[in-house]
Amino acid sequence: MDLKQNIRSIPNWPIKGVIFRDLTTLMQDPNAFRYSCDIFYDRYKDKNLDKMVGIDARGFVFGAVLAYRLGIGFVPVRKKGKLPHKTIEQSYSLEYGEGILEMHEDAVTPGEKVVIVDDLIATGGTAGATVKLVKQLGADLLECAFVVELPDLKGREQILGCPVFSITEFE
Ligand code: PRP
Ligand code: ADE
Repeated sequence: MDLKQNIRSIPNWPIKGVIFRDLTTLMQDPNAFRYSCDIFYDRYKDKNLDKMVGIDARGFVFGAVLAYRLGIGFVPVRKKGKLPHKTIEQSYSLEYGEGILEMHEDAVTPGEKVVIVDDLIATGGTAGATVKLVKQLGADLLECAFVVELPDLKGREQILGCPVFSITEFE
């Protein structure tokens, strides 16, 4: 299946010059959504993972499905100010801004085997910050997984030392 046909492209959003790759159209198509989740599931079903770490916001969608199917826990990494308990935080920048990500300090314990998942990697700023958070808590990070990668933005270079898996690429 060519997932690119299920992704809507919006020029000049949220700022001029950015072509936003909108995965809500993929998620609302039952075949494309199931196909994406099944690829992730098949990849991780025999990996003895403990937790799936999903990045705010669309990483929650794929991460929760995977956690459920794999029978493991789900951990949200959130934009600052949303998590109620003690957190660790990491600042980051991306194509159209900057921010701070937070994670509960007890969300993963040292040695737990985890995968980080999000809908898309562009500059890698968001995923790079998440890798730092997960490593700070001592987790055993297998890899970062994305439905879409924008290779021109060289996101992989922001997360050297952590393998990156993506289902499809967009120029
Ligand atoms: C998008 C996307 C990733 C991030 C990737 O989210 O879902 O999380 O950008 O960009 P990067 O590789 O350049 O860091 P966005 O920050 O727009 O937030 P949202 O999920 O709240 O819409
Ligand atoms: N995050 C950063 N750049 C993006 C893009 N071009 N499309 C969707 N999400 C993004």
